[in-house]
Amino acid sequence: MAEPPLLDEQLAYYRERAAEYDEWWERRGRYDRGAELNSSWWSEIAVVRAVFDELPLHGSVVELAAGTGYWTELLAARATRVTALDGSPEMIALNKARLHDMASLVDYRVVNLFEWQPDRRWDGMVFCFWISHVPRDRLGAFFHTCRKALQDGAPMFFLDGLRVEERADVDQPVSDQESEVLLRKLKDGRVFRIVKNFYEPEELVQLAKAANISLQVRRTDTYFLFGVGSAC
Ligand SMILES: C[S@@+](CC[C@H](N)C(=O)[O-])C[C@H]1O[C@@H](n2cnc3c(N)ncnc32)[C@H](O)[C@@H]1O
Repeated sequence: MAEPPLLDEQLAYYRERAAEYDEWWERRGRYDRGAELNSSWWSEIAVVRAVFDELPLHGSVVELAAGTGYWTELLAARATRVTALDGSPEMIALNKARLHDMASLVDYRVVNLFEWQPDRRWDGMVFCFWISHVPRDRLGAFFHTCRKALQDGAPMFFLDGLRVEERADVDQPVSDQESEVLLRKLKDGRVFRIVKNFYEPEELVQLAKAANISLQVRRTDTYFLFGVGSAC
């Protein structure tokens, strides 16, 4: 049987991974690196959270690739209304379950972000652990789509991972360091191809600028890359 196109395989991977996804964020199971490294992980999340918590994410906010909802829950607590987009119905179901009553503040939509054309503008935008999954040749267009979805002056926040050695039972490079394709394993051993890019801050800043988004990008010590922007 022919392999599915890469971006379909990437989405299929996340659909299948939905139920085990939070183990990564919460450093459990295969992602438990021991007390010391886990503690660095949480301290770096605290650094990112301190910035995120200060952003003027009020009014209507759109979250791209919302996943199981760690960030959706935070947004629902401070925005008037959240639109949460994700290509995986499984992720959206977990997101709703996490939010309980607060899910009524969220408009959930199953959307393929590689086909998404915004039909309105929001007062803010957030995307966490998504930009690394956007292929390099689509990154410029991605920022243009983001800009079309934002009111003038609206804030944008993104978060992603820095390159850190993963364990062989989680992922393996496909060919060489330069490839943007990575093999990821689920707990049951099934392997999927995904896109994984570790973009340089300057590259992101320039492409955002070309789309009329002013962006500042920072790193934490080991784990995270994050950006704060605004639509010009
Ligand atoms: C790495 S997870 C990030 C989830 C969440 N933002 C977080 O920080 O925990 C990537 C998310 O992108 C979604 N996704 C993958 N391909 C997609 C696509 N083509 N369109 C929309 N969402 C997609 C997955 O379902 C998954 O929820």
